[in-house]
Amino acid sequence: MLVSRLSAVRTQMIKHLVKAPLTSAPKTGNFSGHYGYIFHNPKHQTYSSTTAHEEGDKKVEEISVTFVDKDEMEKHIKIPVGMSILEAAHENDIELEGACEGSCACSTCHVIVRDMEYYNKLEDPTDEENDMLDLAFGLTETSRLGCQMVAKPELDGICLELPSATRNFAVDRYAKAT
Ligand code: FES
Repeated sequence: MLVSRLSAVRTQMIKHLVKAPLTSAPKTGNFSGHYGYIFHNPKHQTYSSTTAHEEGDKKVEEISVTFVDKDEMEKHIKIPVGMSILEAAHENDIELEGACEGSCACSTCHVIVRDMEYYNKLEDPTDEENDMLDLAFGLTETSRLGCQMVAKPELDGICLELPSATRNFAVDRYAKAT
């Protein structure tokens, strides 16, 4: 009697063990169905496409700018669209002074656009910028203030020359007054 009951229990346990993997399997019932959830989960798709999208955006949102110093040494940098030339210069250790910190009240961020084609793509200078440019050292017909120039896609590839000197009229005025 006991032997037959033990045998029955063992048979039940074996049946359960044989069935167990099938009952714990995902409802899709196969390997690819289970892992297919991971690969086709919209969250995973969103994540990977977001990364690709960001990479795509970076290419669109950054432009190449070349600075040429007074010794004709070139420095190529990437600038995010929307950043001023002055800010970009400071972030990349380019010697562009910016004494008034971009408030259009000096001319120490004077740069010369080397190519008229790019110069024509810039917004027209405001009266304030023109007033400051009049005080700039080595003014040319393609001179601009770096703090008033903002990177935009059309300026990709622009080349900017740094004048051999700058004049800070605020300092000049101070020097004359003392
Ligand atoms: Fe002074 Fe540009 S930083 S005018």
